[in-house]
Amino acid sequence: MLITSGQISVAISSTVVATFTFLLFLSGYVLQQQTVHSLQAAIHPKITPPQIPTTNPVLAKHFGQPPGHSFYDKYLASNRPKGGWAKAAYVQLARRHVEVCGAIMGFARLEKEESMAQRIIMYPREWDMKPEEGKKRNPRVETSRRLLRKAAKDYKVMLQPIDSTTQAAGSPLTAEEKFPLTNLLSPHHYNRIIFLQPPGLILDSTPLDLLFTLPMETPMLGLFAPGPDNERGQPSILLIQPSMQAYADITSSLPEGAYPDSEFLQLVHIESAPTDAEFHTRLLAEISQLDANSVADFNATQFLSTTAYVHISDPEPEYDIPRQEFIGAMPSGKQARSAWESVYARFRDARMNICGLDLQPIEKALDGGRGKQTVEELN
Ligand SMILES: *[C@@H]1O[C@H](CO)[C@@H](O)[C@H](O)[C@H]1NC(C)=O
Repeated sequence: MLITSGQISVAISSTVVATFTFLLFLSGYVLQQQTVHSLQAAIHPKITPPQIPTTNPVLAKHFGQPPGHSFYDKYLASNRPKGGWAKAAYVQLARRHVEVCGAIMGFARLEKEESMAQRIIMYPREWDMKPEEGKKRNPRVETSRRLLRKAAKDYKVMLQPIDSTTQAAGSPLTAEEKFPLTNLLSPHHYNRIIFLQPPGLILDSTPLDLLFTLPMETPMLGLFAPGPDNERGQPSILLIQPSMQAYADITSSLPEGAYPDSEFLQLVHIESAPTDAEFHTRLLAEISQLDANSVADFNATQFLSTTAYVHISDPEPEYDIPRQEFIGAMPSGKQARSAWESVYARFRDARMNICGLDLQPIEKALDGGRGKQTVEELN
């Protein structure tokens, strides 16, 4: 069956966005209330927090978390995803070695914040292949395999090897061509999956968890962080309701034997991620837009505590960028720069603390330019 974009772009919009904006508004309000409460608690430490009646023993452990989470926790306690948390999953697609650690950092965060959703990493099956007789595995493959095992053991991540979708010979294929985003449609027995475009940093997973519980009227929804003048960007969060039917419909509308991400994304209904201007809460931020978006009262502390996911690009955070270039890429506003630096520093620290990895050295390409050609791809 051929799918037209008209059929796909069923109106999801108003409900989800309105609900979310309202929740963001409330969470900002709750944060303010909590500031007041914590002041009160400091003055009268005997005050006991209000008891919330709970019926769900699994979620009960969430109560009594630090301020900032309790509102979402209350919401999540009474609003489960359709079919329950066993049918909701964060899925990351690690197409390159350099992306493995970033995916695992995200899952470490979800584990720490006790997200109830399932966790899946898809990775190229070729990493599992035995090396030829008498040869050793490429050290990059070895490292990725070690990290994947750690993710399974420490962060309850399910490992899902995937095959290259195209057998085309000839010019070397990119990782995107071999392992396209259409793979996200394949976990059929989940009702909803969330994919966070890497590289990025989860600053607060709870608002992301909330996305599993909201009604969705289209099988694929992409959220982008609105740029200056609300300009539309690439979606950095994808919500997908996988099904055999959706997979068949969508792959049949893409060119035979190849599923380019750009064409796939055209079938996704795209909306701007909700933000709340008054309380500066946002679901999604683009690091590259920090300057353009930072209004006079932009506050780095606030940004870091009220943003759920930051998509980081240009420069990419996994690489050891020469200092001059790094400084040149910084936003100019003082607060924006502080937020920007903090995001890169957190990424670098998590990479070391969770994966035991330094930043990736950059190899100069033969033509003097620099791409993502690092040692890993030259091997
Ligand atoms: C930013 O916000 C935090 C609390 O959200 C506040 O403590 C701090 O003073 C603010 N900083 C500036 C520069 O306004």
